[in-house]
Amino acid sequence: MVKIAPSILAADPINLERDVRRAVEAGCDWIHVDVMDAHFVPNLAYTPDTVRRLREIFAVPLDVHLMMDNPEGLLDAFLEAGASGVTVHAEIGDVSGLLRRIRAAGAAAGVALRPGTPAEAAKPYLEEADLILAMTVEPGFGGQRLDESVIHKFRDLRKAGFKGEIEADGGIREDNLKLLVDNGLTVAVMGTALFRQEDMKAAIGRLHRL
Ligand code: DX5
Ligand code: ZN
Repeated sequence: MVKIAPSILAADPINLERDVRRAVEAGCDWIHVDVMDAHFVPNLAYTPDTVRRLREIFAVPLDVHLMMDNPEGLLDAFLEAGASGVTVHAEIGDVSGLLRRIRAAGAAAGVALRPGTPAEAAKPYLEEADLILAMTVEPGFGGQRLDESVIHKFRDLRKAGFKGEIEADGGIREDNLKLLVDNGLTVAVMGTALFRQEDMKAAIGRLHRL
């Protein structure tokens, strides 16, 4: 069953507890916490304190996506705050050391690829990563259109022997999720398409049955 990870980038940042409670009560599997540094992407989002407060209030796994050029400085802060998984971008350089630090802290280690970055960039990490995030939009903003040309990466990674979670993020909706799942997706990050649902519980129920 595909895991559904609502992205809080699409939540109301000054009513975050309300919106996360809604997603958790609707049966989501993880909560996806987008972190942006206004450098790796032209936007700014969320902090280790957000993760700490979410961990204090909710038991759901917190899937932290660091869209940052220099995550090493804040990595311990996110891990100590209670991140269940931390994903760093392959484009920033050799992330082996970061992945080892994430695993050593007991969290799941993830590698993310922008749409334009080939699956090859994740291949050095197939044993060191628990999750590979093949982004289906250019990182930085929610509400964009899914780039279907990314889907072949899911199959490439499986063919290369990757056994962990294959996650996608950006532009995922009820009408394109099945295509992603049929090609190997195991975790779907969804922001806009979920938070605008009248009945999020029914929506997540339908998505789980895909
Ligand atoms: C974009 C973020 C995504 C985004 C989700 O950089 O990583 O998580 O919020 O996108 P939508 O809103 O399209 O589901
Ligand atoms: Zn994300």
